[in-house]
Amino acid sequence: MPNMQITPNFIGLDTTYPTADGQTLTRLHLDGAASPLASATALETIQKLLPHYSNTHSYVHNSAEISTKALAWAHQVVLKYVDADPDDYACVFTGAGTTAAINRIARGLHLARPTRRLVLVSSMEHHANDLPHRQFGNEVVYLPLNGEGPDSGTINLDELQRLCQQHGEQINYIAVSSVSNVTGIKNPIQKICDIAHQYAILVVVDAAQSVAHEPTRLSESGVDFLVFSGHKLYTPMSPGVLVAKKPLLRALDGQDLGGGSVSTVSFYDYELVNDETVKEESGTPNIVGAIALASVLEELMKYGLEALQLKDSALITELKEKLESIDNITVYGDPELPRVGAIAFNHSHVDHGLFAAILNDYFAIAVRNECFCAHPYVSSLLKDELWQLDLSHIAEDQQESYINRKRGMVRASLSLYNSSDDIDTLIRAINEITVNHQNYAKHYTPQADGSYRHNSFVLDWKLELGWQ
Ligand SMILES: Cc1ncc(COP(=O)(O)O)c(C=O)c1O
Repeated sequence: MPNMQITPNFIGLDTTYPTADGQTLTRLHLDGAASPLASATALETIQKLLPHYSNTHSYVHNSAEISTKALAWAHQVVLKYVDADPDDYACVFTGAGTTAAINRIARGLHLARPTRRLVLVSSMEHHANDLPHRQFGNEVVYLPLNGEGPDSGTINLDELQRLCQQHGEQINYIAVSSVSNVTGIKNPIQKICDIAHQYAILVVVDAAQSVAHEPTRLSESGVDFLVFSGHKLYTPMSPGVLVAKKPLLRALDGQDLGGGSVSTVSFYDYELVNDETVKEESGTPNIVGAIALASVLEELMKYGLEALQLKDSALITELKEKLESIDNITVYGDPELPRVGAIAFNHSHVDHGLFAAILNDYFAIAVRNECFCAHPYVSSLLKDELWQLDLSHIAEDQQESYINRKRGMVRASLSLYNSSDDIDTLIRAINEITVNHQNYAKHYTPQADGSYRHNSFVLDWKLELGWQ
């Protein structure tokens, strides 16, 4: 395994939970694609900052100066982390995560380029990089993927080229994720930019699932807008991040107006600050979260993003190969493609909801299941299985909940704190469930939404938090 020296500290690696069969087990966290555990560095930074905490946009007293300068530093660290030349790109912290950043872009580009009404959206997107583009009277065209059903892969570049040729001047931008949050499949961002830019079409990249796993080379790729969430980089409570080419940010009207983003205001008029970042950050920013995030990014850069990527890709390949070797397990997505961070699978005899529940309740293994806020993509990966469902023995009023139990997958995702031992622990649990699933199933009742509830085991969350 390359570079075993990478050992940043995380909070919660030794958290234990009771299990349904009376054990107490250390929780194994395989849900980093949703939110990984928090970095100890983030917490240390917050603890160091809070005694100096002050609102920003001022140098009038010492704490204001410290907060203002630290926030400016955080913007620069983000640019360094994604390898964006600060002469060409600017960074904006948005209120919430990726979702807020994409809504801002969708709104802004609609207003800035009113004659271009078409938006191309890849067919493998999280709802955050799909639904915002459907608004504002845009017409969304979905970019097909290579391959079909469970084996589908990256977006189809020939089709992209054809659509660009056909509709060039009507297309405002292409929205695509660098890595799918379902299958971990990676899109060819550089090639997408090369095609799009021939037609003055902009490229919006949702990097929520790639930034923690591989280096981002923004200046080299020429991506126009890149967005991600700080919480996916081991920093809960941190903001969303938008990095964009400066002229494009300048062309967007300031959208959330208020204090901080304006230079002059009269009763009749106002003028936005002549700075791409400040103009987009009205109000009090998430100062503490942004600075904590930057300190974590610095730490990751210290370890070296190439080294992190090597470790990550060796682990995910190991997980994929071990999963593929188990009978009755389907791993979704083109089997030839490498994965980044996440893998989704199903067992042909155990519903996704039951599988994830057993992993949690009996093995303290945290994975995620259902459709991962990517319903159209998950449905297309499951198309064949859903079509083949035999509903003849299911009462009509039960059919919807039956389909819900089948519509979904189990997703295991890896973070910096995971190791080869963790993969072995998961694989052992999967093998045990494969052999004994009928015994486990007796303890569960399926719910209408597709989940399974244990008949007697209930976690007391207040007790876990030490509140009683
Ligand atoms: C690819 C992708 N895009 C967008 C999002 C939304 O991120 P957030 O909830 O931080 O806004 C996620 C979250 O899982 C994601 O995986």
